[in-house]
Amino acid sequence: MTDDGNTRPRATCRVCGDGLEQFLDLGEQPISQAFVEPGADAEEFFFPLVVGVCTGCAMVQLLHDVPRDRMFHHDYPFYSSSSQAMQEYFAGVAREFLDTDLTGDRPFLVEIGCNDGVLLRTIKDAGVRHLGFEPSGGVADVARARGIRVRGDFFEERTAKEVCAAEGTADVIYSANTLCHIPYLDSVFRGVDALLAPDGVFVFEDPYLGDVVAQTSFDQIYDEHFYLWSAESVQATARRFGFELVDVRRLPVHGGEVRFTLARAGRRTPTPAVAALVAEERQRRLSSIDTLRGFAANVARVRDDLVRTLTDLRERGRRVVGYGATAKSATVLNLCGIGPDLVEFICDTTPDKHGKLTPGQHIPIRPAEAFADPYPDYALLFAWNHAAEIMAKERAFTASGGRWLRYVPDVHVV
Ligand code: TYD
Repeated sequence: MTDDGNTRPRATCRVCGDGLEQFLDLGEQPISQAFVEPGADAEEFFFPLVVGVCTGCAMVQLLHDVPRDRMFHHDYPFYSSSSQAMQEYFAGVAREFLDTDLTGDRPFLVEIGCNDGVLLRTIKDAGVRHLGFEPSGGVADVARARGIRVRGDFFEERTAKEVCAAEGTADVIYSANTLCHIPYLDSVFRGVDALLAPDGVFVFEDPYLGDVVAQTSFDQIYDEHFYLWSAESVQATARRFGFELVDVRRLPVHGGEVRFTLARAGRRTPTPAVAALVAEERQRRLSSIDTLRGFAANVARVRDDLVRTLTDLRERGRRVVGYGATAKSATVLNLCGIGPDLVEFICDTTPDKHGKLTPGQHIPIRPAEAFADPYPDYALLFAWNHAAEIMAKERAFTASGGRWLRYVPDVHVV
């Protein structure tokens, strides 16, 4: 249970204060990246993973938040550079900034949640001023070892003001797969307001509600993913804090994201892409309670299909191994009640996860090499957002007769 004593779901929106309507209950869930040492007797922390939509600003959000220090701390085990494809992707994002918004006199980029420096290494190599905020000590140390400037703090009004006082305003404030982790957007936006140059841009990219609903990718919902953005909700939030949504770009990474670009109100002309995405969302009634309840019904169908499929494979004596001990997998495993009796172990390339057990369901995690030793009959692809990279490097698995079991957008074998 949440240790702030708040066991009741929030009734009002974190952003605008209007009423929240609940549409999805994913049950009691652990911290998604709290991998467990075998034999550890400390009680695991669980919280109700329940999702609602604001009737005022359309923001989709969790109804219980988890104290931030429980999620982001020295042993946070997610390294952004663990995917080769994502390394190349972020080098490209950095180069684009270097060619556009970082061409003025002594430009300055601040990143919220720089992790191991996957983006900032390119900015640093170009000799451009930068600062990464990263409260998770272990990953921050990797970035520092790469020569990147890191501040080991959460980004909020106080810390942003300190940076502005010491280093001046930022031309770009960027955040990838982090802004949606932060419930207290009011303080973040006040921080952006304090730190951003008059003509600067605040750019963030995260999983997109439109893709989550279209693909029933409910595993994008876990403790860290507090908000699921839409163009409509970001536009309303931006206005509330004196900013304007001036560009949106659909991104193929992490199972479907959008990059939202905000500027101070009136400073840049919004691109046609903004109005187009808002119109598309309205046309499909993306944020309506009916659509979101329909999504919840699809989640229940995928859950039942997956459990039935895995139970059937066990009864037929087939070996099933998981691929990628992702944060997303915590939601799937704990919602479905899938434990080591159905999935023997999960292989993963992250050394910090090896020898540990998944949160809640306690499936062992083993190094990537364990996958081929010997190959299982089926691999349940938890890192489905990296499918192209993984399937390309694991061709020998399918060549040996192995099959991939996937559950996005529905349960199927490939
Ligand atoms: P990611 O999908 O980025 O997700 P989440 O945010 O849900 O944790 O995490 C990728 C995980 O998958 C990470 O633990 C590393 C692992 N992984 C592999 O084991 N092999 C691979 O080839 C790739 C790309 C990732």
